[in-house]
Amino acid sequence: MKIKSLLLIGALFAVGCSAPKEDQIDKRVNDLLGKMTLEEKIGQMNQVSGGYQFIDQIAAGNIGSILNIVDPVEVNAVQKAAVEQSRLGIPLLVSRDVIHGFRTIFPIPLGMAATFNPEIVEKGARIAAIEATASGVRWTFSPMLDIARDSRWGRVAEGSGEDPYLDVQMGVAMVKGYQGDNYADPTSLAACVKHFVGYGAAEGGRDYNTAMISERALRNTYFPAFKACVEAGALTLMTSFNDVDGLPSTGNDWLLTDILRGEWGFDGMVVTDWNSSGELVSHGYAEDLKDATALSVNAGVDMDMMSFGFVQHIKALVEEGRISEKTIDNAVRNILRLKFRLGLFENPYVDETLAAKVAYAPEHLEAAKQCATESVILLQNNNNTLPLKSAKTILVTGPMADAPYDQLGTWAFDGEEQHTVTPLDALKNDYKVIYEPGLGYSRDNNTSGIAAAKAAARRADAVVVFVGEEAILSGEAHCLSQLNLQGAQSKLIAAMKATGKPVVVVVIAGRMLTIEKDMAQCDAMLYSLHPGTMGGAAIADLITGRAVPSGKSPMTFLRDAGQAPFYYNHPMTGRPNNGTETLLNDIPIKAGQTSLGCTSYYLDSGYGPHLPFGYGLSYTTFEYSDITLDKQQYAADDTIVVEYTLANTGSYDATEVVQLYVRDLVGSVVRPVKELKGFERVALKAGETKRCRFELPVSELAYWNRDMKYVVEPGKFQLWVAGDSASGEAHSFEVK
Ligand code: NOJ
Repeated sequence: MKIKSLLLIGALFAVGCSAPKEDQIDKRVNDLLGKMTLEEKIGQMNQVSGGYQFIDQIAAGNIGSILNIVDPVEVNAVQKAAVEQSRLGIPLLVSRDVIHGFRTIFPIPLGMAATFNPEIVEKGARIAAIEATASGVRWTFSPMLDIARDSRWGRVAEGSGEDPYLDVQMGVAMVKGYQGDNYADPTSLAACVKHFVGYGAAEGGRDYNTAMISERALRNTYFPAFKACVEAGALTLMTSFNDVDGLPSTGNDWLLTDILRGEWGFDGMVVTDWNSSGELVSHGYAEDLKDATALSVNAGVDMDMMSFGFVQHIKALVEEGRISEKTIDNAVRNILRLKFRLGLFENPYVDETLAAKVAYAPEHLEAAKQCATESVILLQNNNNTLPLKSAKTILVTGPMADAPYDQLGTWAFDGEEQHTVTPLDALKNDYKVIYEPGLGYSRDNNTSGIAAAKAAARRADAVVVFVGEEAILSGEAHCLSQLNLQGAQSKLIAAMKATGKPVVVVVIAGRMLTIEKDMAQCDAMLYSLHPGTMGGAAIADLITGRAVPSGKSPMTFLRDAGQAPFYYNHPMTGRPNNGTETLLNDIPIKAGQTSLGCTSYYLDSGYGPHLPFGYGLSYTTFEYSDITLDKQQYAADDTIVVEYTLANTGSYDATEVVQLYVRDLVGSVVRPVKELKGFERVALKAGETKRCRFELPVSELAYWNRDMKYVVEPGKFQLWVAGDSASGEAHSFEVK
């Protein structure tokens, strides 16, 4: 089993393949640094958005990196200004938000996380790197590692969801995929782990909002993926917009220097988020842009994205002694080291014919389809409605059935909708399709088209309703206070249910919506997190039964947005609900103050979520049995061997994502009720049974305890092996 983290392999790999060259790089960095004027150093620390318009500035040595150009001709032109016209010929670093694919768009990162398949995620990142670098882009602002426990936040789309362990696995897979085996390879795309830190904990799920996170919670929950990616060789890191406990990250020296450089030994480059240095002024943390620049640079920022404070103020700040030249030299060293590592001095230009050759290569589309297929979560399948095997004629309806742009999701800057396969396109190959969209777009409140869809349903054997969110409803700055389906989509589903035909609902969205009521109005529901270029083909495979769903939810589904933030691995309360919740309408009139039991739940939505983290059904059924541990008591350096039998008891060959959870029963601080510690995709033929195992080193039970020490505290633990975070039976063990 691959519980022993991918990290180790990543770290060994990074050291093994670049150790001798690194010595030369340090020397070259120092030689070059020795020739640079202060102005040239400041120029390297400046990143701007654009291309041709900056040629003169680039030639003057005032710009070290640009973002947002992807035309190889333009990339070469600006590069030429840097390499052939600037005094020292230092190449530019060209960057872009390549977040879930470049041309071939993969599912949004939350969808990739739903695959629980680091291999396909790594492959997706590699493909993104091949396509992006062919356009001259050598640096992407991905992966986003922000733990997100509130679907109101639009950026849940861009991360791996609510769980730190899954975040580590997905983040490391992306870093490895983007950067490849050798940084200097022309297809190596430098990763940027972001947003450091706590951005996903924005209060109320409102973007850019403040986050209140204790140091212990940072270390136990928000840091692990950043640390793991640093160990796996991530070349760069981006600071976040938000403050944590009053300290905006871009000016937080504890984060950027003590933790990142000191504790984790990061020798890559740190960039701000877009104007996040300038925004120290809006935060009321800096007096003006000059002050903000001093705070950012002294905290440990190397490169400024778009505040222009560095170019405007560093020189004066150095002259005034508010920033030391040593600090500037260190920042520039980090930038030059990156450029040498990427081989930009040897290979500054891109072959201008390459981009068109590699985009949408058949193997890229095939991998995107596999990833999309594995990302879809089956939430309900009453009476085995899916797959639609016997239906000949189907009604396809709903605003997301043929929305080639929207199914690409947020951050698909370079995806092209004319290459998108929509569900409508794909289903036409399998069924006689009647298409009546019912609604024009996801927010549409005009119900006049629903009657036509209803009438058409009479001619169909089954109805497939595609609802969800347009791409614009999730992603940066696209937060919601309600998580229901927008517009008249729920009405469309209910109208289809009223026809009496079998109704399959496919939700295509950028977050976990509150769809409990809609589920009651359909026979089966598939949930697809904006699935990208090949989404339609993947969904058609699932609807026909050519493929069997295996996705699992990387976030808890809520009954109501008012439950947020709600996550499975929350700390245990002193009054957990024991299942005797009395809901609003069951409360007797004039009930006594303490008659409801005084436990932790909502009177209107109860204790539990709609569906738990890790949830996802299959067309087959899986049975877990004979879960055994090799011992009852373990020493700190032991490995826990957990064996289990998994049987595919249904009639489809299928894959189950088996999940391993642990609970530390008593801690020096309150511990989470459960924590994911491993997962494995197990493929079984119909009727097949397999004995499988997890190996969990006891050291992986460590956490930052009351004394802020990373230790395994001896004591009693419980362990579950199950298909989601709310199933299975507890097995006890002890650490001595
Ligand atoms: C702002 C976003 O927060 C960040 O994620 C992105 O990489 C930059 N803009 C650059 O576009």
